[in-house]
Amino acid sequence: MIELFLDSYLKMDIYPFHMPGHKRNPKFLNEAMLFRDVTELSHTDNLYEPSGLIKEAHKRVALAVGSDESAFLTNGSTSGIIAAIAGSCGENDEIIMSRNCHRSALSALVISGAKPVYIYPESFSFGFCGGADPSQIAALFTSHPKAKAVFITSPTYEGLVSDIASISKTAHENGAVLIVDEAHGAHFPFHACFPKPALALGADIVVNSAHKTLPALTQAAAIHRKGLRADWEKIKFYLKAVQTSSPSYILMSSTESLYRRLTEERDIMNSYASLLEEAREAIEGAGGPNILGRELIGKNGVFDMDSGKIILAGVASGFEIERILRDEYKAQLEMSSVGYALAMTSPADVKAGFDRLVDGVRGIGAKKAGKSAASQAESWQPESFFSGKVDSAFTLREAVAMPSEEACVLESEGRICVEFYAEHPPGIPVAAPGERLTRGQILALSKMGLGKVKVARL
Ligand SMILES: Cc1ncc(COP(=O)(O)O)c(C=O)c1O
Repeated sequence: MIELFLDSYLKMDIYPFHMPGHKRNPKFLNEAMLFRDVTELSHTDNLYEPSGLIKEAHKRVALAVGSDESAFLTNGSTSGIIAAIAGSCGENDEIIMSRNCHRSALSALVISGAKPVYIYPESFSFGFCGGADPSQIAALFTSHPKAKAVFITSPTYEGLVSDIASISKTAHENGAVLIVDEAHGAHFPFHACFPKPALALGADIVVNSAHKTLPALTQAAAIHRKGLRADWEKIKFYLKAVQTSSPSYILMSSTESLYRRLTEERDIMNSYASLLEEAREAIEGAGGPNILGRELIGKNGVFDMDSGKIILAGVASGFEIERILRDEYKAQLEMSSVGYALAMTSPADVKAGFDRLVDGVRGIGAKKAGKSAASQAESWQPESFFSGKVDSAFTLREAVAMPSEEACVLESEGRICVEFYAEHPPGIPVAAPGERLTRGQILALSKMGLGKVKVARL
């Protein structure tokens, strides 16, 4: 039973360096929240057509983040991303977007019928992609002058931020709207030590997952509009299509009070910023895996970095770093891959949690000391989640509607994919519907352990 498992898991006292951002800290989580589980009534307003309580709460969130209008999302950024894209691009409209996006952005193309024009952020050797390069976007407008929107992920899952100001300028000069998946940047507006939020840099629509980097409940998120370029009415239409008609008041009220607290209780973010800085310094001096940091700025489209993400690399593979930290130091990371491991932090983190991380990094360093660099490196060769350029033969919507069959992965080169295949996290599809499968994709799919894939029966 899930309940029993979770009870025993919590008793293991493993410190969460992962989502949700409340980290089970009683300062942000309490039982009273549970009793706020009501439904839409004449007194409690309505998320689809807010006119009272929820409308006022939306205004308070907008004020806190600096938007012109905001709305709660009660099933994560996924719903906001789908609505933002579908509300901005219709059937056969072109959208310039980075291909290393979360699957929700590609799902939006199935719903809207829009055609992607991809940019491909360069990868770092550790195995993750950089930011969206403004000059690549500008160049694509020359060949696709009618593109209606630009969609980028900033920050990325690893916390890499793109040059939003330049990208928004280019998008607007070409008559397009800029939609930013800032799911991992909900904390940006609340402390100057983090990158500037996309809303302050010209983005038209921004989607934030409060539950990822802030102390909010899982699925708590919000969508924001700035200016009048985006078709907010159409976006709201799609929000009603993809969101539940029974929104959780627990989520909405916790999101609203979180934003209020972050605005009024400045010490929450101040103490987070100083704990984080202290922990980063201690990790850097611990003689274990390094933190990948500001040296990435200026490379591969990276304009800025979120220090809230602690990317550990070196000394051991990412998998081993994660395993040792969990099994020997009771600190569970958000994810690991061959080339790196990722700790997610939030304002709900406490010193004792950071201490475990620092001790663990020091322990890994000590364990590996004395081994030759060659023997440390031989067992791990970083790979990217994402396998490079794709060959789009059909729109995603066309492909999903095709009759399909299963094919052996190793024999599927050249076949048209009709499914999303992604590792979670980070949820970036290695292959998506409509793509003629390349050799690179097939290798990546088989490394994921897939034996068969769904392809079009043409
Ligand atoms: C970059 C990015 N965008 C969007 C999402 C979707 O967010 P949510 O889980 O809030 O629906 C994720 C989820 O991990 C993500 O990593």
